[in-house]
Amino acid sequence: MVREKVLSELEKNRGKRISGQQLAESIGVSRAAVWKAINSLKADGMNIISVTGGGYCLSQDDDTLNSESIKSLVKCKDIANEIIVLPEVSSTNTVLKCDYSHKSHGFVLIAEKQTAGRGRMGRAFTSPNGGVYMSILLKPKFNIDDLSFLTLVAAVSVCDAVRSCTGLEPQIKWVNDILLNGKKLCGILTEASIEGETGSIDYIALGIGINITTNLSEMPEQVRNIATSISEHCENPPRRAEITASILNSIQHYLNILFTDNGKSKIINLYSKNLCCINEKVCVYAPNETYEAMCLGINESGNLIVEKTDKSIHILQSGEIRIRPNSLIENGYTI
Ligand code: BTN
Repeated sequence: MVREKVLSELEKNRGKRISGQQLAESIGVSRAAVWKAINSLKADGMNIISVTGGGYCLSQDDDTLNSESIKSLVKCKDIANEIIVLPEVSSTNTVLKCDYSHKSHGFVLIAEKQTAGRGRMGRAFTSPNGGVYMSILLKPKFNIDDLSFLTLVAAVSVCDAVRSCTGLEPQIKWVNDILLNGKKLCGILTEASIEGETGSIDYIALGIGINITTNLSEMPEQVRNIATSISEHCENPPRRAEITASILNSIQHYLNILFTDNGKSKIINLYSKNLCCINEKVCVYAPNETYEAMCLGINESGNLIVEKTDKSIHILQSGEIRIRPNSLIENGYTI
């Protein structure tokens, strides 16, 4: 508790000196307790400088990812009420489902690295250090048919967070990819556990993986060609804790909107504004066919509307189909 409060004060004054006395007074503990908390944070690798003449300073370039650093930046009420950060897991979605599904709505499991990250349709999601991999446990009371709206909320939230922390302009590739300059920055995987008897939602694992300072050379060659990270586009990438907190704050904000009157159509509008490929040709990969089509937008359920070359209109549901912008295929990028 003292540790969390000390870090929160240091975070508010990041880059500036704050004395042990000031810390002790603002938190309401002894200077010895502050000293102990500072040592424990340092032992966890945080770059806290003990300033000559007294006082401490959390360095601007400290990029530690721990629950306190994220918590000091989140403004949510129920999302991120509890955060656990682990250096490495197989997959945060898998571990959340196995070990943490008993936690309350809003619990977040974060990993700095995944050894068996999972994507949609059974694909792997390469997850080296430098990214943030998180799964949010959601226990909302809503209809299973509306599950896809959580993916839309997450996509809009990631776009907002990247935009506000970097000034860059990300785009959504339907349904669950976030792109920067046409390359994949982030993937989203929404998984639900359904109660066998009632068919109602038991809980949801909303998984988000985003490349921040990821060294793309650590990725397999075929992924390297289609992936990107924030540090490829900006000289001073935001700290991992900052972008993580910003995503969580946005998710809280958009979930609040989702559960109001007309909430779904508001989310659809926001999602559409961020969608790439509108009025452009895409390649559609359906289970039994691959075809070229014009992307027209999404309908009120978040399904993609495309027009085939014979002018027939098709509504695509995310479960079975994926698209790829034709520009990427022409440039030689394929999955
Ligand atoms: C995709 O690209 O198809 C979705 C990728 C989703 C990756 C995230 S990272 C956190 C969470 N844990 C996983 O194993 N997958 C999701």
